[in-house]
Amino acid sequence: MFSKDIGIDLGTANVLIYVKDNGLIINEPAVIAIDKRTDEPVAFGEEAYQMMGRAPEHIQIVHPMKSGNIAEFEMTRVLIRHFLEKALGKSLRIKPHITVCCKADTTRVEKNVIRQVLMGAGAKQVVMEEESKVAAIGAGIDISKPSGNMIVDLGAGTTDASVLSMGEIVSFKKTNIGGLHFDQCIIQHIRKKHNVYIGEKTAEQVKKGIGLVLMSGEKPNAMNVHGSDLATGIPKTIEVTAEEIHQALQLPIGKIVETTRDALEGTPPELAADIAQRGIILIGGGAWLPGIDTLLTEHLNVPVFIAENPLTCIAEGTGSLMDSIGKTWTRII
Ligand SMILES: Nc1ncnc2c1ncn2[C@@H]1O[C@H](COP(=O)(O)OP(=O)(O)OP(=O)(O)O)[C@@H](O)[C@H]1O
Ligand SMILES: [Mg+2]
Repeated sequence: MFSKDIGIDLGTANVLIYVKDNGLIINEPAVIAIDKRTDEPVAFGEEAYQMMGRAPEHIQIVHPMKSGNIAEFEMTRVLIRHFLEKALGKSLRIKPHITVCCKADTTRVEKNVIRQVLMGAGAKQVVMEEESKVAAIGAGIDISKPSGNMIVDLGAGTTDASVLSMGEIVSFKKTNIGGLHFDQCIIQHIRKKHNVYIGEKTAEQVKKGIGLVLMSGEKPNAMNVHGSDLATGIPKTIEVTAEEIHQALQLPIGKIVETTRDALEGTPPELAADIAQRGIILIGGGAWLPGIDTLLTEHLNVPVFIAENPLTCIAEGTGSLMDSIGKTWTRII
């Protein structure tokens, strides 16, 4: 019987699906819109994301993934089923072999949940692999050699710092601070300083528009932001500066530096020496925040590079992985 090999990066903010021989087919927000009156889904992915903050009362926007884990079992199943049908055809007549990525500290119970969700969504078989290994492969690094490589994934729900050698993770640290936390810091700052309430989507636009880790980055100095006046509830537009957003992000950025340092400190000296030479590779959407590489270099005294494709390298890594079936570290849960 025919089957199709696919790879999935199931993130807190985004779901990516790579289909062998076809490439990256799905790259959409991990969001689903539900009609509360019928409990039926009305929109998925990008379409549901566009409804955030704009939908009528009876539409609930659900983020079924939290901090890199499946928080809403059934919603995730329905969302993945939708994406599988979009990628492979409506009837899903050919059931896919799925390689799915997980965090280095995902427990056996959490892995079983992922497996059940994917089998329920239509998988024929589920193979699980750690994200940092797959990302390194996606970034073109040969991780099978006895030398140290470090990957820091600045995701939406978590930041994961991993050191790899000989195909295994030798040091790992994680914090539940990620891009979504940055957005929350921006919402709180604007509420406190300007007495204005803004939604999550607006906060993300502010972060992408004027967010800087170091004030020397090339972005506009300020932008107009639309929200609601906290006192009156009526719409209000304010000017927000890059400097104040820079200040508002200091705490979570500090936590990311600390997590990366902890992973580096837990690395055996020979491997740490390799990393000092080769540098750290940043992946995940947070790698796009200007200055994060320079700040990490300043604090850790190690070169830091941004992957060529930080948002897609895990999904693309599953493509390379599927081409090299038989590697000793690939395992089936
Ligand atoms: N240009 C940008 N500047 C700053 N942040 C960005 C930019 N582009 C995307 N992001 C942020 O990156 C995050 C999404 O990154 P990514 O897709 O790697 O996360 P994820 O894989 O879904 O989450 P996780 O790995 O934590 O489960 C979002 O918080 C988004 O706001
Ligand atoms: Mg991720």
